Amino acid sequence: MSKFQVVEHPLIQHKLSILRRKEASTKEFRELVDEIGMLMAYEVSRDLPLEDVEIETPVQKTTVKQIAGKKLAIVPILRAGIGMVDGILKLIPAARVGHIGMYRDEETLKPVEYLVKLPTDIAERQIFLVDPMLATGGSAILAVDSLKKRQATNIKFVCLVAAPEGVKALQEAHPDIEIYAAALDEKLNEHGYIVPGLGDAGDRLFGTK
Ligand code: URA
Repeated sequence: MSKFQVVEHPLIQHKLSILRRKEASTKEFRELVDEIGMLMAYEVSRDLPLEDVEIETPVQKTTVKQIAGKKLAIVPILRAGIGMVDGILKLIPAARVGHIGMYRDEETLKPVEYLVKLPTDIAERQIFLVDPMLATGGSAILAVDSLKKRQATNIKFVCLVAAPEGVKALQEAHPDIEIYAAALDEKLNEHGYIVPGLGDAGDRLFGTK
């Protein structure tokens, strides 16, 4: 079974508590998703391999640690995943960014893929697949299917709020990927929303509806 981890950092928890409030403005919501994305990236990148490199300081030669040439790709699931990309790029500015477009069929509540645009060498990259909400798990599962179809093997799924149903579904479908969330909520309601959640992340990010 894949690893599921709630990132308990106080800054993340505090920012998430503001993000959840219904009175948070579009501007605040966007800024907070960006900041939490950055803080999550710090945690999720914790196990990137390091290598020793010889450098010269103004004083003398020395050996320092550097990230070992591991190529990264951030892949947001559209549309809400876009909100987390800039925050992650602040910490990992050289990462490539792919996109996977999904929309939720309002009747079946099932995701439908409409766009996949990825770096050509996606198979060799460590991938951070991002979407603020892990609800039913349908879009995350389809997005991982899509990445694996293109030979990607090294995938971490990063979200802000997860429902137990989504975690279970994603773990069952893809036991090899690690899942990181800022919170594990109570459940999904009959409309597929996470409870207590934060509403529709895409609408709140982009000020739609
Ligand atoms: N997608 C959202 O944006 N919010 C939810 O609560 C569930 C899915």
